Amino acid sequence: MQSSKQLGLAMTLTLTLTFALILCLSPSGVESRIRWRKSVQLSLHRETNHTKVLGSFRSQKWRLKNILFPTKDTEAVGGSFAVTKPVSRDNLTNSHNTEYYIKAYFGQPKTQQVTLLVDTASANLWVYSSDFANKSCAKHNGYDESKSQTHQQNGASFAIQYASQSDLNGFLSTDTFTVGDLAVKNQTFGVINSAPLSLCKRSNFDGILGLGLSQIALDGVTTPLDNMIAQGLIDDPIYSMYVNRNDSDASNGGVLLLGGSDPTLYRGCLTYVPLSKVGFWQITVGGIKIGSKTLCHNCQAMFDAGTSLIIVPCPALKVINNKLGIKESSKRDGVYIIDCSKASSLPNVVVNIGWKDFTLTPSDYVLNYSGTCVSGFASLSDCSAETSSDRSDELNNIWVFGDVFFGAFFLLFDFGLKLIGIAPKV
Ligand SMILES: *[C@@H]1O[C@H](CO)[C@@H](O)[C@H](O)[C@H]1NC(C)=O
Ligand SMILES: *[C@@H]1O[C@H](CO)[C@@H](O)[C@H](O)[C@H]1NC(C)=O
Ligand SMILES: *[C@@H]1O[C@H](CO)[C@@H](O)[C@H](O)[C@H]1NC(C)=O
Ligand SMILES: *[C@@H]1O[C@H](CO)[C@@H](O)[C@H](O)[C@H]1NC(C)=O
Ligand SMILES: *[C@@H]1O[C@H](CO)[C@@H](O)[C@H](O)[C@H]1NC(C)=O
Ligand SMILES: *[C@@H]1O[C@H](CO)[C@@H](O)[C@H](O)[C@H]1NC(C)=O
Repeated sequence: MQSSKQLGLAMTLTLTLTFALILCLSPSGVESRIRWRKSVQLSLHRETNHTKVLGSFRSQKWRLKNILFPTKDTEAVGGSFAVTKPVSRDNLTNSHNTEYYIKAYFGQPKTQQVTLLVDTASANLWVYSSDFANKSCAKHNGYDESKSQTHQQNGASFAIQYASQSDLNGFLSTDTFTVGDLAVKNQTFGVINSAPLSLCKRSNFDGILGLGLSQIALDGVTTPLDNMIAQGLIDDPIYSMYVNRNDSDASNGGVLLLGGSDPTLYRGCLTYVPLSKVGFWQITVGGIKIGSKTLCHNCQAMFDAGTSLIIVPCPALKVINNKLGIKESSKRDGVYIIDCSKASSLPNVVVNIGWKDFTLTPSDYVLNYSGTCVSGFASLSDCSAETSSDRSDELNNIWVFGDVFFGAFFLLFDFGLKLIGIAPKV
């Protein structure tokens, strides 16, 4: 059911071709009432062990390349890569601010709990099979259809690439899928029974919850979000994320709100912008600056909760690194180490979205791993290479707003009207 507010919004967009819209019907008004009618709040968790983090970024870049350019060859970025990052659970669990997770259940009765990575750049749900987990990857939980009364056979094969050159392979299955108190019936998902052992061993998630739009769902599988709407589990086709990055508040990774928004989690009004590429959560950003230096105009940016950092085209990264005093030699595992003591004096990065400025301060974009500070900006390609190919041109055209960006702003994803809403976090 579309709310009257959303219909109004749609009409505004259609009639006036408005590029962006700032909407503020709160505090006590329409927005808060509508947004909360039928929705669920899930907590995100985080892990406190800071060791394995640095090696994990390469695998994310590999994954991103695959997502953005699936037809291209997919060699690892700059040599061998360590696979995947650690994880934590349920109230958006957060792994060292590199990934965010929730807890969910497969089947009925609700006995099979798993930890799922929250990913906005894919649109499928998948989980390891219990058989595979037991045999090859004992630290993980998996799905066992024989323990569910609601399982329905599907059997079509399913393959997905993630963070490694080998596919994850398995088959499709259909069952009840529960997040928070939303029991989604007849959800079809991938059950993975073959995966690179390195991925499985190094990662902390048992599967992935893809929150992209249906256009990018593999095998045309109905997405969990679309099923929630179709089954009336949530009223509004939206979800929102509030990501907590405060290291001294370790148990709290933030929240994922399915079907809802929460005006108490952001300041001012949400600025809405239409998607520029439907499928991904991709928009046209008016401009990005570091200090007084412009990094781009009308740039394309994709929101990806499955990427830790902000991925930047090479020309912009060179300017950023210059401003941050980073030399190419301070690159480690594909990311740039920064002197912690200089962090507070670094310039802000200002992103103009819908004619409004959104500011990232050094404390937003410098990650501190127990005294090792890492710049929140990295590139997909090797920016020190002088050679330019079609491919690097493509890679040089998109910004990917990963968890560093999610950490600074409250984000709303509207898959009905195909909009993103953004506001500073409280
Ligand atoms: C953190 O992780 C590392 C690598 O897996 C492990 O060796 C270490 O024991 C862990 N530390 C704690 C406190 O759990
Ligand atoms: C999530 O965190 C909140 C506050 O920390 C807590 O009250 C709640 O029980 C947690 N929810 C779950 C499902 O663990
Ligand atoms: C996997 O291990 C769990 C826990 O020991 C067990 O309950 C489950 O039946 C096993 N699954 C399979 C398919 O063997
Ligand atoms: C789920 O599938 C079963 C069997 O095909 C069907 O009877 C039922 O109506 C479906 N439920 C929903 C909510 O789609
Ligand atoms: C981080 O969390 C701690 C503990 O909850 C709190 O005291 C502190 O104010 C928080 N810091 C920020 C910047 O919010
Ligand atoms: C980074 O973390 C270390 C230890 O966790 C702390 O002592 C230091 O003050 C932090 N530096 C910054 C710039 O936050």
